[in-house]
Amino acid sequence: MTQAEERQGTIKLEIRNDRKTESQIEKLLNKMTLDEKIAMIHGAGLFQTGAVERLNIPPLKCSDGPMGVRNEFHNERWIPMGNHDDYVTYLPSNSALASSWNRELAYQSGFVLGEEARGRGKDVILAPGINIKRDPLCGRNFEYMSEDPKLAAALAVPFIKGVQENDVAACVKHFACNVQETDRLMVDTVVDDRTLYEIYLPAFKAAVQEGGSYSLMGAYNMINGTHCCENKRLLDFILREEWGYDGTVISDWGAVHKTKEAAGVTMDVEMSVFPDFDDYRFATPLKEAVEKGEISESAIDSKVRNILRMMFRLKMIGKQKDTRKAGVYNSLAHREAILRAAEESMILLKNEENKLPLDRKKIRKIALIGQNAVKIHSDGGGSAEIKALYEICPLMGIKAYLGGNTEVVYAPGYYVPEKPKTFDSNWQEKSLDELEGTDIGLAVRREGEESPNVQERAEVFRKEEEEKAAQKEKEKQLIHEKNIRLFEEALKVAKEADEVIFVGGLNHDFDSEGFDRSDMKLPYEQDMLIEELLKVRKDAVITLIGGSPVEMPWRDKAETILWSYYAGMETGKAFAKIIFGDVNPSGKLAETFPARYEDCATAKNGQSGIRGSISLTEGLYFGYRYYDRERTAPAFCFGHGLSYTKFVYSNLSLKQEKEGNKGIRVNFSVKNTGKREGAEVVQVYIAPIAPKIDRPAKELKAFAKVKLQPGRTGKITLILNRQDFSYFDTDSHAFVADAGDYEILVAASCEDIRLRGICTLT
Ligand code: BGC
Repeated sequence: MTQAEERQGTIKLEIRNDRKTESQIEKLLNKMTLDEKIAMIHGAGLFQTGAVERLNIPPLKCSDGPMGVRNEFHNERWIPMGNHDDYVTYLPSNSALASSWNRELAYQSGFVLGEEARGRGKDVILAPGINIKRDPLCGRNFEYMSEDPKLAAALAVPFIKGVQENDVAACVKHFACNVQETDRLMVDTVVDDRTLYEIYLPAFKAAVQEGGSYSLMGAYNMINGTHCCENKRLLDFILREEWGYDGTVISDWGAVHKTKEAAGVTMDVEMSVFPDFDDYRFATPLKEAVEKGEISESAIDSKVRNILRMMFRLKMIGKQKDTRKAGVYNSLAHREAILRAAEESMILLKNEENKLPLDRKKIRKIALIGQNAVKIHSDGGGSAEIKALYEICPLMGIKAYLGGNTEVVYAPGYYVPEKPKTFDSNWQEKSLDELEGTDIGLAVRREGEESPNVQERAEVFRKEEEEKAAQKEKEKQLIHEKNIRLFEEALKVAKEADEVIFVGGLNHDFDSEGFDRSDMKLPYEQDMLIEELLKVRKDAVITLIGGSPVEMPWRDKAETILWSYYAGMETGKAFAKIIFGDVNPSGKLAETFPARYEDCATAKNGQSGIRGSISLTEGLYFGYRYYDRERTAPAFCFGHGLSYTKFVYSNLSLKQEKEGNKGIRVNFSVKNTGKREGAEVVQVYIAPIAPKIDRPAKELKAFAKVKLQPGRTGKITLILNRQDFSYFDTDSHAFVADAGDYEILVAASCEDIRLRGICTLT
C-alpha cells in the first residue's frame, strides 16, 4: 500500500445503516455458535448457503443471471431439475440493453429481473455483468455492457435499483478486471493503477455507491498476482475503505483457493461448483483454522455481519419479513417491458438507399435467408442460459407481422453443425473439474499447492488445443460440403423474392462463458454467402444477430446493415417492427466495431486470450480511445447508430455552475427534421486541449436519449461535474481536474461531432 493509500484508509467510514439494524445484527451474532456462523458463509447447495434454523435465519438463495432467472438445478448436482415451473421471461442481454443508452429501460429491465427472481423465491440474482469490454474476442462480452466506464456505470446503476426494488439483491459481477475467459481461473491480469481506477473500477464503484448493490461477486482471475477473492487491496482497501461498501461479497463459483487468505479479507461467502460442501475452504478447513487460532473468529463475524445486513435489507429476517415483496414471473407487464428494451437495442448500422423501413404493401413475397432467422438463443451461453417461456425468432416475428397474404420464404443459407446438449456432465462443473489430475487442478481444489506444475499444465492444455483444432478442421470440411447446396438454394430464393433479408451472425457456440473466440470472423462461411448474395441482390438487407463485433469485409457493398445483440424472447417481434417501420431504430453501439481484429490494441500487443498472465499494456487505449489516438477508422464507431429520421443539433452554450461543485452546464437543442417520430442518443465528450499529462483525445462524459415528434425541437441540458474533467493521479492517489481549457464535443457518435465549444476550468 502506498503512503497516499494509507492516508485515505484513515478516512472514517460512513455508517449507512440505521443503528437499530446494526444492534439487531449484533444480538443475532452474539447468539451464534462458530458452526452456525460457518454454515452461513459457504455453499450448502450449488446455489444456496446454509441456514441457521434455531435462530430463524434462512439460507441465501441465489440464481443466475443477467438474461433472466435460470432454471432450477439439483442442490448437489449440476443437472437441471427438469421442472415445468421454471420457464421465465428471457430479457435482452446486457450488451443489448446497453445499446439502448436508455437509463429508464435499464431500470425497467432490472425491475423485471428482480421481480421474476423474487417470484421464483430467490434472494440474490447474479447480475448485472458490468466488466469492461477490452477485447472483442472475450467470450462473455455479450453479458457485459460497454467498452466505456461512464456508459456501463450509467446503466448499471438504474438496473441495480430496479432489481432491488423487489427485495432481491443484485450481485454485480465480476469484480474486477475479468477481461477474458481463457484460463479464467488462474489468469493474472496485470494492470497499472491509473488504468484500474479510470477504466476498470468506475462502473463497480457506481454500482455500490450510487446503485447501492447489496452484493457483489469476486471474480475468478488474479489482479497483479493475487486472486480477486483473496485480494486485500481490491476488497479491503478499494471496495470497503475507499468506497465504504458494507454489503456482501460472494465468490464466483470456485474462485476461492486459499483458506487463510480468503478468510483474512472481507470476502464473505464462498460458493463453488462441487457438491463436497463440507470441504469448501470456508467450511471445515476454516473451522479448523479458527480452532487452531490461525484465524480469529472476529474475521468470521464480520462476514456474518455483512450477510445479516443484506438479509435485513431484503426483509428476509426480523419483523419486516411479512412485508417482503412476493414478486411474480412471466407477467404480461414483463413481456411489454422487455419488448421495448429489445426495440431500442437494435442498431441500424447502414441504410444508404433508405431501403429500410420496408413497405409491407409493396411486398408479395419476401425471403429470409440465414440460420439466425430461426435460431433459439436463450438456452446457451453458459451461466446466462435461460429456460425461456418462449422466444420469437425473426422468421416467426416477420410471419406473425405480415400475416397470411404475404408469402414468406425461408432458406437456411449455410450449415450449422448441431451441438447436442448433454445433461450427464455439465460444462460448468467440468470447467473446474477438468483441471483435476493436473497440479493446477489440485491447487484449485485443495490447499497447499503453492507452485503449480506449469509444464504439466501446459501439456494438458496443448493436447486439448490440438484435439480442438482437429475437430474444427473436420467441421470446416463438413460445413463446406453442405454449404454448396444451401448457397445455391438461397441464391435462387433471393432472386425470386420482392425483398430479401439475410439473418446471420453468431450464436452461443461463439458467444459463451468459459472460452474466448479465436477470431472475429462470421462463422459457417457466411461472408462468402453474403458476397454471393449481394451479387444477385445488391439491395438485400443484411441483418446480424450476435453478442460481440464481427468483421464485415463486404460492408461497403451492402446498402443496409442492421445489428442486434441477443435481444430476449421478443427479438422477432421487435425485429419485424423495425424492418417495417412501426418502430424507428434508436440503438447506438456501446462498443467499437473494428474493421479487422488485427486493428485492435489487444491484437497488436498480443495481451489477450493467452494463459498465465496478461498485461494490460495498452492502458486506457483500447476501443474508441485507441482509434482516436491511432487516427484509424473502425468499421463502425462507438456511439454510432442510424434512425429513419434526421436530427439537427444547434445552439450550444456552456455555463459554469455557480453552486455545488462548479461544474459546466452544457445546453443545446436537437431538432427532428424528418417525417417520423424518433429518438436520438446525444453524447457529450470532453477533449482536454493542452493536458498536463497524456490523456485520451476525448472521453464520453454525459449522454441523454431524447424522443422527438417530427418537426419538434428538444432543449437539452447536461451537467459535467469536476470529476468528469479529471484523471487519476497515481502520485496523490486521487482524481485530479487540472485547470485549463477543454473542448466540449456534442456528438451523434464518437466520430460524428455536431457541436463544439470551449470551456475553461478554473
Ligand atoms: C460464472 C458466474 C455465475 C456462476 C454461477 C460462474 O461460472 O462465472 O457468472 O454467476 O458461475 O453459475
